[in-house]
Amino acid sequence: MTYKLLFVCLGNICRSPSAENIMNHLIKESGLEDKITCDSAGTSGYHIGASPDRRMSAAASKRGIKLEGKSRKLTPLDLQQFDLILAMDRENYQDILYLDREGKYEDKVRLMCSFGNHKTDQEVPDPYYGGQDGFDYVIDLLSDACAGLLDYIVTSQGYQAKT
Ligand code: 4NP
Repeated sequence: MTYKLLFVCLGNICRSPSAENIMNHLIKESGLEDKITCDSAGTSGYHIGASPDRRMSAAASKRGIKLEGKSRKLTPLDLQQFDLILAMDRENYQDILYLDREGKYEDKVRLMCSFGNHKTDQEVPDPYYGGQDGFDYVIDLLSDACAGLLDYIVTSQGYQAKT
């Protein structure tokens, strides 16, 4: 049994694929790839099948991260199948809970920024209509939140991470 993480944003071409690929990088560094798996999805269907936005890929590549994956839309089944679902902003959070009419999975859904240790932002800002610096900022914010998220999972699941 692996611990399954799902990162969710609006389009699944900027923030959530970045979170997924940064997290995969940290998981590999910690030698936990047999224990924790990552996926991402969008609450909208605007970009289904598309690769990550090239401005986002450029920002990630400056930090040594390659963005892989194709956009897909979040489904109600995802709420059942994943162990922890990370929303990039409050609108994503509400849209995820909208698929959980009975409130069965509410405890699995968290704001990504709640795991950050060094940044005080409460949401990962949508960079889509802004400049390149917004994309760079998303990578830095997510790097901090992903590190905190990994610490949380390692502690809560009792995993042994390579240091
Ligand atoms: P994401 O960014 O939710 O981080 O993938 C966006 C991508 C596309 C759009 C908005 C945000 N859009 O309006 O098409």
